[in-house]
Amino acid sequence: MRKAGHPYKKQLFVCCNTKKDGTGCAMRGGEELRERLKAKVQANPELIGKARVNKCGCMDFCHDGIAVQIQPADKLILDARPDDAEAIWEEFLES
Ligand code: FES
Repeated sequence: MRKAGHPYKKQLFVCCNTKKDGTGCAMRGGEELRERLKAKVQANPELIGKARVNKCGCMDFCHDGIAVQIQPADKLILDARPDDAEAIWEEFLES
Protein backbone atom coordinates (compact mmCIF):
# COMPACT_ATOMS: atom_id res chain seq x y z
CA MET A 1 0.00 0.00 0.00
CA ARG A 2 1.10 3.55 -0.71
CA LYS A 3 -0.55 6.84 0.25
CA ALA A 4 -0.56 9.58 -2.34
CA GLY A 5 -1.95 13.09 -2.78
CA HIS A 6 -4.99 13.31 -5.02
CA PRO A 7 -4.59 15.58 -8.07
CA TYR A 8 -8.32 16.12 -8.62
CA LYS A 9 -9.89 18.84 -6.49
CA LYS A 10 -13.45 17.97 -7.57
CA GLN A 11 -15.02 14.84 -8.96
CA LEU A 12 -18.35 13.75 -10.32
CA PHE A 13 -19.39 10.12 -10.01
CA VAL A 14 -22.12 9.02 -12.40
CA CYS A 15 -23.73 5.65 -11.86
CA CYS A 16 -23.62 3.64 -15.08
CA ASN A 17 -24.61 0.34 -13.51
CA THR A 18 -26.86 -2.31 -15.00
CA LYS A 19 -28.42 -4.64 -12.47
CA LYS A 20 -28.88 -8.34 -13.08
CA ASP A 21 -32.55 -7.79 -13.94
CA GLY A 22 -31.60 -5.23 -16.60
CA THR A 23 -32.70 -2.19 -14.60
CA GLY A 24 -30.44 0.48 -13.15
CA CYS A 25 -28.93 3.81 -14.03
CA ALA A 26 -27.44 2.57 -17.30
CA MET A 27 -30.89 2.03 -18.81
CA ARG A 28 -31.82 5.61 -17.90
CA GLY A 29 -28.85 7.02 -19.77
CA GLY A 30 -26.05 6.99 -17.21
CA GLU A 31 -23.34 6.61 -19.82
CA GLU A 32 -24.76 9.38 -22.01
CA LEU A 33 -24.93 11.71 -19.00
CA ARG A 34 -21.34 10.87 -18.11
CA GLU A 35 -20.20 11.59 -21.66
CA ARG A 36 -21.97 14.95 -21.68
CA LEU A 37 -20.34 15.90 -18.37
CA LYS A 38 -16.92 14.73 -19.56
CA ALA A 39 -17.29 16.95 -22.60
CA LYS A 40 -17.82 19.92 -20.30
CA VAL A 41 -14.52 19.25 -18.52
CA GLN A 42 -12.77 18.91 -21.87
CA ALA A 43 -14.32 22.20 -23.02
CA ASN A 44 -12.73 23.95 -20.03
CA PRO A 45 -8.96 23.46 -20.33
CA GLU A 46 -8.35 25.11 -16.96
CA LEU A 47 -10.20 22.19 -15.33
CA ILE A 48 -8.33 19.37 -17.04
CA GLY A 49 -6.30 17.57 -14.40
CA LYS A 50 -8.28 19.29 -11.62
CA ALA A 51 -11.82 18.04 -12.21
CA ARG A 52 -12.81 14.56 -13.23
CA VAL A 53 -15.99 12.77 -14.29
CA ASN A 54 -16.03 9.13 -13.26
CA LYS A 55 -18.20 6.19 -14.13
CA CYS A 56 -19.23 4.37 -10.99
CA GLY A 57 -21.20 1.36 -9.95
CA CYS A 58 -24.38 1.13 -7.95
CA MET A 59 -24.82 3.63 -5.09
CA ASP A 60 -27.99 1.90 -3.86
CA PHE A 61 -30.35 4.57 -5.20
CA CYS A 62 -31.43 2.41 -8.11
CA HIS A 63 -35.09 3.42 -8.02
CA ASP A 64 -34.08 7.09 -8.06
CA GLY A 65 -31.37 6.96 -10.69
CA ILE A 66 -29.51 8.17 -12.49
CA ALA A 67 -27.57 8.78 -9.29
CA VAL A 68 -24.77 11.35 -9.39
CA GLN A 69 -22.42 12.29 -6.59
CA ILE A 70 -20.31 15.46 -6.35
CA GLN A 71 -17.16 15.18 -4.24
CA PRO A 72 -15.73 16.51 -1.99
CA ALA A 73 -18.94 18.53 -1.51
CA ASP A 74 -20.72 15.24 -0.75
CA LYS A 75 -23.79 16.23 -2.79
CA LEU A 76 -26.10 13.59 -4.17
CA ILE A 77 -28.28 14.22 -7.22
CA LEU A 78 -31.06 11.75 -7.97
CA ASP A 79 -33.47 11.22 -10.86
CA ALA A 80 -30.92 12.75 -13.20
CA ARG A 81 -31.24 12.37 -16.97
CA PRO A 82 -28.80 13.15 -19.78
CA ASP A 83 -30.66 16.42 -20.44
CA ASP A 84 -29.80 17.51 -16.90
CA ALA A 85 -26.09 17.71 -17.77
CA GLU A 86 -26.05 21.52 -17.83
CA ALA A 87 -27.79 21.86 -14.44
CA ILE A 88 -25.51 19.22 -12.90
CA TRP A 89 -22.49 20.98 -14.35
CA GLU A 90 -23.56 24.28 -12.80
CA GLU A 91 -24.08 22.55 -9.45
CA PHE A 92 -20.65 21.00 -9.79
CA LEU A 93 -18.98 24.35 -10.48
CA GLU A 94 -20.74 25.94 -7.51
CA SER A 95 -19.78 23.09 -5.15
S1 FES B 1 -27.98 1.17 -10.44
FE1 FES B 1 -27.47 3.26 -10.14
S2 FES B 1 -27.73 3.53 -8.01
FE2 FES B 1 -28.09 1.39 -8.29
